[in-house]
Amino acid sequence: MLTIENAKRELSLAAQMNPGPWEQHSISVANNARLIAQRVPNMDSGKAYVMGLMHDIGRRAGVTGIRHIFDGYDYMMSIGEPEIARICLTHSFPIKDVRTFFGKQDCTQEQLEFLRDFLNGNEFDDYDILIQLCDAISLPNGACIMEKRLIDVALRHGLPDFTIEKWKAFMKTKTHFDHLCGCNVYDLLPNVLENSSVNLV
Ligand SMILES: [Fe+2]
Repeated sequence: MLTIENAKRELSLAAQMNPGPWEQHSISVANNARLIAQRVPNMDSGKAYVMGLMHDIGRRAGVTGIRHIFDGYDYMMSIGEPEIARICLTHSFPIKDVRTFFGKQDCTQEQLEFLRDFLNGNEFDDYDILIQLCDAISLPNGACIMEKRLIDVALRHGLPDFTIEKWKAFMKTKTHFDHLCGCNVYDLLPNVLENSSVNLV
């Protein structure tokens, strides 16, 4: 697996190719994933950190919607990182249904079919679920309560008919880690309350 140093280098190169808040969001996901994984027996917090840094690496290819998960998968496979490639694909799909993506469906039919087969053919492990969780609670400046971030996404992308089902699936990822950690995961992360006030601009 990529070292932390190499993952940081990949992220900063990618952010030069396509600058945006996604870089700080990725660092935030990595920090939160590490803090949570440290509390779970048998999880490798360094691996969780690298996966967090790299989960949106497909954004190196430009401003895209669902395409970023395929660009990330292809790039990680091309450098021999199948475990991270898998995270690039699974992080947006707590529900194994390729239609349930908030945002632009800017990929090919073949890519959608590949994703459908991939999701159906693989059981999520705790790393998949951890990055799904952290993606849903990580603002660029740190962790917030999930409900705030789900609302932020809804304000940007509207409320497609799968919204409630997907919200419930994200909430289940938190319940899963609350149990694994033996506490409320928000207690493990700094400034959750401060980061969670809604600011409409
Ligand atoms: Fe993403």
